[in-house]
Amino acid sequence: MAKFTLNGEPLTADVDPNMPILWVVRETLGKSGTKFGCGIAQCGACTVHLDGQPVRSCSTPISAAEGRSITTIEGIAGPDGELSAVQKAWISEQVPQCGYCQSGQIMAATALLRDNPRPTDEDIDNAMSGNICRCGTYTRIRRAIKVAAGMEVSQAEGDAA
Ligand code: FES
Ligand code: FES
Repeated sequence: MAKFTLNGEPLTADVDPNMPILWVVRETLGKSGTKFGCGIAQCGACTVHLDGQPVRSCSTPISAAEGRSITTIEGIAGPDGELSAVQKAWISEQVPQCGYCQSGQIMAATALLRDNPRPTDEDIDNAMSGNICRCGTYTRIRRAIKVAAGMEVSQAEGDAA
């Protein structure tokens, strides 16, 4: 049994405490926006927030979320359904290619901008380096993070992916 909050909703789930958060949110609770990539904490596709901090849900047991707050990609829009600034920037900059890694990328970017609203290129690279994109959308990711932050984006930072 595990008690936690998912996207603002208090929940009790009848699951093994060792079950990874990824399995609980996808299989038990039906929130399939969080993706399974490597399963060994190496790619970031499964990134969710635990009390606002990004974690690898494939490798974090639900017991670590006991009494805490999990946020998935389904929970970052506003209560009225308005997309977050990061989500809007991902659309305006047309970041995704196949899309598989992108909910993890958005969760990592959201956490970055919450802690650091005006990140430098180095800050972005450091925060996002653990989130792998097989399609190589890194240039658009960086650009979208700056757009979401309301920062200037130069032409030189155009689409390279
Ligand atoms: S699926 Fe969790 S880090 Fe790759
Ligand atoms: S958009 Fe395809 S893996 Fe990132």
